Amino acid sequence: MTARERVAGTVANYVDERTGAAKWMKKNLTKVFPDHWSFLLGEVALYSFVILLLSGTFLTFWYDPSQREVLYEGTYAPLNGLHMSAAYSSTLHISFEVRGGLLMRQIHHWAALIFMAAIVVHLMRVYFTGAFRKPREFNWIIGVGLLTLGIVEGFLGYSLPDDLLSGTGIRIAEAIIQALPVVGSYLAFFAFGGAFPGEAFIPRIFTVHVLLLPGIFLALITVHLMLVWYQKHTQWPGPGRTEKNVVGYPLMPAYMAKAGGFFFIVFGVTAFLGAVASINPIWLYGPYNPGQISAGSQPDWYMGWLDGLVRMSPPLESHFLGHTVSWNILIPGLIVPGILFTGMALYPFIESWITGDKREHHLLDRPRNVPNRTALGAMSLTFMLVALINGGNDIIATNFHLAINQVMWFSRIAIFVLPPIAFVVTKRICLSLQRADRELVLHGRETGRLLMLPHGEFVEVHEPISPELAWKLTAHEQAPALALEDVDARGVRRAGGLKNKLRKRISQANAESISKPTLNDLKEIEHH
Ligand code: HEM
Repeated sequence: MTARERVAGTVANYVDERTGAAKWMKKNLTKVFPDHWSFLLGEVALYSFVILLLSGTFLTFWYDPSQREVLYEGTYAPLNGLHMSAAYSSTLHISFEVRGGLLMRQIHHWAALIFMAAIVVHLMRVYFTGAFRKPREFNWIIGVGLLTLGIVEGFLGYSLPDDLLSGTGIRIAEAIIQALPVVGSYLAFFAFGGAFPGEAFIPRIFTVHVLLLPGIFLALITVHLMLVWYQKHTQWPGPGRTEKNVVGYPLMPAYMAKAGGFFFIVFGVTAFLGAVASINPIWLYGPYNPGQISAGSQPDWYMGWLDGLVRMSPPLESHFLGHTVSWNILIPGLIVPGILFTGMALYPFIESWITGDKREHHLLDRPRNVPNRTALGAMSLTFMLVALINGGNDIIATNFHLAINQVMWFSRIAIFVLPPIAFVVTKRICLSLQRADRELVLHGRETGRLLMLPHGEFVEVHEPISPELAWKLTAHEQAPALALEDVDARGVRRAGGLKNKLRKRISQANAESISKPTLNDLKEIEHH
């Protein structure tokens, strides 16, 4: 035994005698995880969260969360002698005078953008592969919670500098709160501690941004990862992989090394972006003043869709019993996002209701094999994309020499027309890919080699595919649609007729697929 091993052994023994950790570690460090690049997306979200905590802590050393008016006398000459809030002035101080301050601000902002992008792409991976199915529904709901919190946390974060851009965003948030019928104006007064903008808002959102939400994030991420640990990770179908086993590498040493290295790659990329790519140059916007607005105000991308929905809404307002209901804000700002996020949270239960499938699933779906789900995902993304485009309607109009109304009318029509088209096209593509898989299994791969038969006919030589690939292409289930008859076996009409009819119709559409090759099909081909 070397001296180093002896020291390590003594330390490990010391800790084990006091905590009993050895048994737990032995069991868990050898836990097997499946391997696939798409499983790294959740890790990117996790690592950027760590980067956010570290860089954010640095910023709190100098940031002053106060709307107290100060006279700017710092090194950024164009703003010298201007009255502004202490929050804005301290952010300028971090950017121009604190050593490494601008780099840290930019790393923090880039990490936030990467965090949100990683969450969205991770969500898409989980959705399109069906990883949310039983028993992972709770983790899906926690995920939707994390996404919602991420949007709020990001918004509060870029509101803190109290520059002209962020102040405009807060003004919109105030309008959305006020649009709530009856309680809206009271809630806005409560949040702002009086009339907008007041002096209470920045200190309040600072506490929420650095204390409350990160605390909730930490708790939710911990539960999220504990559930991944307990329920085990899903895996892609392949030879030897079943619903009952996990094929992969042990946590120690394979994943410890990979995850450690990957953390530094994510940190490196974020630091590189922070060093070379300017982001949120608040000194160009100037301090916030409710009487001013800068042209081309844009929120960060994960809020852009919401802004886009509000921008495209027609001016609808009703007045009754002395109250004004601003439908133009209420519908795009609260009702539509509410429906979207509630629908997303409930999706695992909706799908299991449609398919009647209550079993556990640990093998992932290839998106093409579940055309309706994939098409619904494409439809939702198209909806979001159109809304996001309209969130930049002024920038698009300026850059492409269009009238802002043209962009807005395009979005107003496209938001209704393009998502259903995306649904139909995606579903057709999935079915075509299924057809291509069937062809591949039955007839093998086209080699591009032409053979002339003795009677002069040309045929292309096909090569049989490997048994592994054939297994992968045919391993999925093709469950039939639910047989929900209107009358039961004794001829009595079932209760809930309309609900049953709807469920039957959706279940039929959901079960539409190209039948995968059977053993008989293969035998028949061999016979030929
Ligand atoms: C702060 C944000 C989040 C973090 C840090 C995070 C982290 C992770 C990690 C590290 C994994 C295991 C590796 C992987 O499958 O990628 C995972 C799995 C999972 N996540 Fe997330 N996640 C976040 C948000 C979300 C969201 C928004 C959803 C969906 C709405 C979601 C749903 C899931 C599910 C269902 C699993 C289990 C997947 C499986 O076993 O295949 N997560 N998450």
